[in-house]
Amino acid sequence: DRLPALLAAMPKAELHMHIEGSLEPELIFALAQRNGVSIPYASVEELRRAYAFTNLQSFLDIYYAGASVLLKEQDFYDMAWAYLERAAADNVVHTEMFFDPQTHTARGVAMQTVIDGLHRACIDAQARLGVSAALILCFLRHLSEEDAFATLEQALPLRDKFIGIGLDSSELGHPPEKFARVFARCRELGFHLVAHAGEEGPPAYVWSALDVLKVERIDHGVQSTKDAELMKRLAQERIPLTVCPLSNLKLCVFPELAQHNLGQLLDAGLCATVNSDDPAYFGGYMNENFLQTFAATGLTAKQAWQLAANSFEGSFVDAATKARWM
Ligand code: ADE
Ligand code: ZN
Repeated sequence: DRLPALLAAMPKAELHMHIEGSLEPELIFALAQRNGVSIPYASVEELRRAYAFTNLQSFLDIYYAGASVLLKEQDFYDMAWAYLERAAADNVVHTEMFFDPQTHTARGVAMQTVIDGLHRACIDAQARLGVSAALILCFLRHLSEEDAFATLEQALPLRDKFIGIGLDSSELGHPPEKFARVFARCRELGFHLVAHAGEEGPPAYVWSALDVLKVERIDHGVQSTKDAELMKRLAQERIPLTVCPLSNLKLCVFPELAQHNLGQLLDAGLCATVNSDDPAYFGGYMNENFLQTFAATGLTAKQAWQLAANSFEGSFVDAATKARWM
């Protein structure tokens, strides 16, 4: 069976990963020591044992605690560089990385420290790994729209260092329309727009991400299969869905990988892609997501090719680069 080798070797783009979700327990402990930050876990093993999640919120609580060791520009660089090396090893040739500035600015870390460290790693990735890497700034949806506006204001002096705006964190109870005004402003400013929707939340959140926020991609979107009209819209407009199979498994969105609806999304003609979301927490980077999902669901080599093509089609690279990769 040559499918695993094909999955690993094929060039691909990653469109949905949170750079803070690439912090491995070993790096969390190293940074905690380097910065004199104390964390409520005695060892790497004890921390890893805490990674038993029941839903999105149970993960987010630990994810934000892990990010508390990041203080200096070099910390952000080291975190991003470690991920970019893993991405290169998985034949990821292009990646669009989310970051959550509010997680850091709320602790007194300057916006410039965060963005400069991450951006320097992106520059080095192109030069040293041949990986093209870009940044997407995410607003935390459990915080207010006012807080998002203040965050945007702080980031605008650095606007040449990120390409887009996203929306993440606790979905239920925080519908996209809560951020209508700030997304309208980001659209005027010319940023690419994406939002998490339909991970745990209902199809109505996918509709409002599209119609109110006017996003170009939906992050996750797996709940869309519950709404036939929505499925038609997503297929007709080729709106990319950045699906994260191992994340969905670990956060109990699907009870088993074999029951994941990625195949259904592809069969319906959607531009679905495979991504790692928070690879340090969910048990795998890109190739692990492809390998485990294909093994569990019986997707084919043709569908592997389709997923890789979709990842380039859905990316925010210029049309000429897209044509070269597809
Ligand atoms: N932040 C990091 N990972 C996330 C996810 N899967 N959903 C929402 N917010 C997140
Ligand atoms: Zn995500």
